[in-house]
Amino acid sequence: MSSELAMDPERPQAGPASQGDPSPSAAGPPTLPAPALGSDQATGPAAIATAPAAAGPVIRLQQVNHWFGSGDNRKHALKDISLTIDPGQIVICTGPSGSGKTTLLTMLGGLRSCQDGSLKILGQELRGASKEKLAELRLNVGFIFQAHNLMMFLNARRNVRLSLELHDRFFDQNMDQLAATMLEQLGLGDRLDAMPANLSGGQRQRVAIARALVSQPKILLGDEPTAALDKESGRTVVNLMQKMAREQQTTIIMVTHDNKILDIADRIIIVEDGRLANASQEAAFLQRMRDPAH
Ligand SMILES: Nc1ncnc2c1ncn2[C@@H]1O[C@H](COP(=O)(O)OP(=O)(O)O)[C@@H](O)[C@H]1O
Ligand SMILES: [Mg+2]
Repeated sequence: MSSELAMDPERPQAGPASQGDPSPSAAGPPTLPAPALGSDQATGPAAIATAPAAAGPVIRLQQVNHWFGSGDNRKHALKDISLTIDPGQIVICTGPSGSGKTTLLTMLGGLRSCQDGSLKILGQELRGASKEKLAELRLNVGFIFQAHNLMMFLNARRNVRLSLELHDRFFDQNMDQLAATMLEQLGLGDRLDAMPANLSGGQRQRVAIARALVSQPKILLGDEPTAALDKESGRTVVNLMQKMAREQQTTIIMVTHDNKILDIADRIIIVEDGRLANASQEAAFLQRMRDPAH
């Protein structure tokens, strides 16, 4: 990873913020909204149902470009990206390998500074932002990366608790209990004291997910968060995310190739060669997903 990354996504992080009941309860039944089309519109029944009364966008990119490297090795990784995401939206991001999805996601979470164009997260302009400003912003963001990055010397509960410890507002609460409740919801109630080395890959990933969800971040970013999970735990995770989006107006942006979870999206964005696909390309993509024979 290049040094321009404000924070290394391969390292453990915790996200947080947003007010409300800090002890999430069991996931409700999933609903299956049809994904809406259009790379810069909040549309579709689910988007309308979850949109808050009068809040501005959570994330707004205008004509964002990003380059890696220099000289002959200069790579134009993001090209003229404009995108507006509203509170409580669940956005699924897909596209070929190497197209720029992770680069975009890290930018949306303030892990990467914006070189060109305008990037506003939670109302703050991040073009040319200082490291301190990016770090402060990241307290509102939960990340779930492909590699789980747990602290190997801490048990499952302490790993999740760490995320709460970053926030003053949890200090007078029973953080052990909050961590345990979150792990229970992810089916790990009997593994609270287990060390990561004694957990399976799927269990570790669920601990990492618990760590990202427990502090109720305003923005939750996932890079293939369910890839290492079996079907049932994948669905549990997705249901929990959907519940957060509905009840806490958490904005969720997830990179995934998992067709099975497309149904929770209010919106699907496709990145191809550094660009966002237009509405007709998105329609063709969705058609292929629904009817793979064509
Ligand atoms: N830190 C980096 N330094 C140089 N090139 C990078 C770096 N990260 C990504 N790239 C390049 O940028 C492009 C987009 O990468 P990435 O965002 O990881 O794609 P995706 O997540 O869609 O697979 C690729 O060509 C990749 O090789
Ligand atoms: Mg990637």
